[in-house]
Amino acid sequence: MTINSATVKKQVFMIEPTHFEVIYNINPAMAETLEKGQKIKKKPARREWEGLRNIYTDNGLERVGMDSIKGLPDIVFTANGGFAHNGRIVMGRFKYPERQPESEHFYKWFTENEYETVRIDEDFEGGGDMLLWQGKFIGGHGFRSTFDGIKTAASFATFWGKEDDLVPLKLIDPRFYHLDTCFCPIGEHAFYFPGAIAPDSCEALLKLGKAVPVSEADALKMVCNGVYFEGSSGPKFVVNDISRKLEKMLEKWGIETIINKTSEFQKSGGSNRCLSLFL
Ligand code: ARG
Repeated sequence: MTINSATVKKQVFMIEPTHFEVIYNINPAMAETLEKGQKIKKKPARREWEGLRNIYTDNGLERVGMDSIKGLPDIVFTANGGFAHNGRIVMGRFKYPERQPESEHFYKWFTENEYETVRIDEDFEGGGDMLLWQGKFIGGHGFRSTFDGIKTAASFATFWGKEDDLVPLKLIDPRFYHLDTCFCPIGEHAFYFPGAIAPDSCEALLKLGKAVPVSEADALKMVCNGVYFEGSSGPKFVVNDISRKLEKMLEKWGIETIINKTSEFQKSGGSNRCLSLFL
């Protein structure tokens, strides 16, 4: 087998919300949107998306991406396209047929842009269900990704077919169907919503480091879908909304909170993290 080493770039992959809408129901937020007959407001959606992109680019990250695709409204949630680690992408394999055609488009872009890619046969929804923390792959399973999916993904992310360092977390609340809706690494700290993660999985998480439980109110504000990153003037946390208590905690850790509202994307069950795939 030949392995070409890929370069690690400081890039964030985002797709414009041109064709973003809610037309099918694959999570409770979408069900509510459809039930209430709510529509996506195009201009606010674009404003929110551009707000996030500008926060990244103003902070020295390069935004890369491809055109949005009509009929694939959820492709805007690039976090699910794959899991990127050391220049290698384990491609997402979507559970629901509505999102499955997205994979070909992600795959095409990654291979054309010379990323080392691997496709697996199990359901695995990329960065939405796998996050790096404390040198481990934290994998969420139960709703979208299967246990086998995160296991295979972690083994390939480490090194082709070799031992992995996976900490699997079982997700138990359908409102928090992806790991990145209820767990959020913040440097050596993390936020997590205990109500969405099985008790023994919470225990495993707490053994790893300083994970701070957040309230249901904060979890519903999509606090765990916030994005922690190293900005040009220090560490930042971009989030839709957050309680003063958690904001103060971030302040104490030396992290600046930046609010970027995502009301339109929440109608589809996503927020800032879901819109971002760090490469
Ligand atoms: N409507 C999308 C879905 O249900 C939202 C995806 C949110 N992505 C995430 N990484 N949590 O698949």
